[in-house]
Amino acid sequence: MSKKVLVVTIKPFAAKAVEELKKAGETAGYQIDLLESYSDKSQIIDKLPGYDAMIIRSDKIDQEIINSSEDLKIIVRAGAGYDNVDLDSASAKNIVVMNTPGQNSNAVAELAIGMMVMMARNKYNGKSGTELKGKNLGIHAYGNVGKLVAGIAKGFGMKVFAFDPFIENSVIENDGISPLSTVEELYSTCQYISLNIPNNDKTRGSINSALLSKMPKGATLVNTARKEVIDESELLKTFSDREDFVYISDIAPDCSEQIVEKYKNRCFFTPKKMGAQTSEANINAGVAAINQIINFLEKNDTTFQVNK
Ligand code: 3PG
Repeated sequence: MSKKVLVVTIKPFAAKAVEELKKAGETAGYQIDLLESYSDKSQIIDKLPGYDAMIIRSDKIDQEIINSSEDLKIIVRAGAGYDNVDLDSASAKNIVVMNTPGQNSNAVAELAIGMMVMMARNKYNGKSGTELKGKNLGIHAYGNVGKLVAGIAKGFGMKVFAFDPFIENSVIENDGISPLSTVEELYSTCQYISLNIPNNDKTRGSINSALLSKMPKGATLVNTARKEVIDESELLKTFSDREDFVYISDIAPDCSEQIVEKYKNRCFFTPKKMGAQTSEANINAGVAAINQIINFLEKNDTTFQVNK
């Protein structure tokens, strides 16, 4: 009997990515089924029994979903952040959880820079704006996305700095970027900050007004990571304390209505998380996900497992 993979995407992949993912799976003799744009998690629970593997995006996979299938062996998050999966529940049922790091990073990096240009030009409202050239950009976490944002920003003539306690300074220097040794130094040096940190117990709520108040005049915070890493009451405080503060986020914060009501010219929020919404990123992440499933189920390859 062929092995079965369920692709669960409340925000579907581009059609071309679904086509390529299906082709890769079916060539290996797998059955690939889709559950796209669902409205309730009960639809996942009803459909999941009988499936060996699941491919997801930001879809929230909690204990109830995980426990609803006796057959599930692997969940692959087609993307980088896996804060949407209950890893402990998966581990308790011996289900392997993987991500596909790097596969959608270029799309996220291009969006970060694109939104910076848009805000520097006053959302293209016809009024005189500013340029990115010559400004300092701080990369907060030099992972796959941070590295790409840095590379594109150099092309714009920005001066690029980075803070990442998990990466050797020499790696950052080799890319022509200046490493800084504390997060405070990064924020006090850079007018633009690109947030690229994951959402976890250490980072949640860690971006606060103490950090944001250090940024030089014309402070612009660009968040293509997760809204949860920002302390929202401190974000509101920063908006009221500094008339120059601009916040750009790929997905609105919970307090977006309050921000938009008072400071609409100093913010931009995507209506849905858009960073990875390109055909290329969907193809890369989707095909990587199915290949990782095949390699795990056929050869027990656990590369990219995140719940080891
Ligand atoms: C990621 O973590 O890979 C990005 O945030 C993209 O998420 P998405 O696949 O849900 O758009």
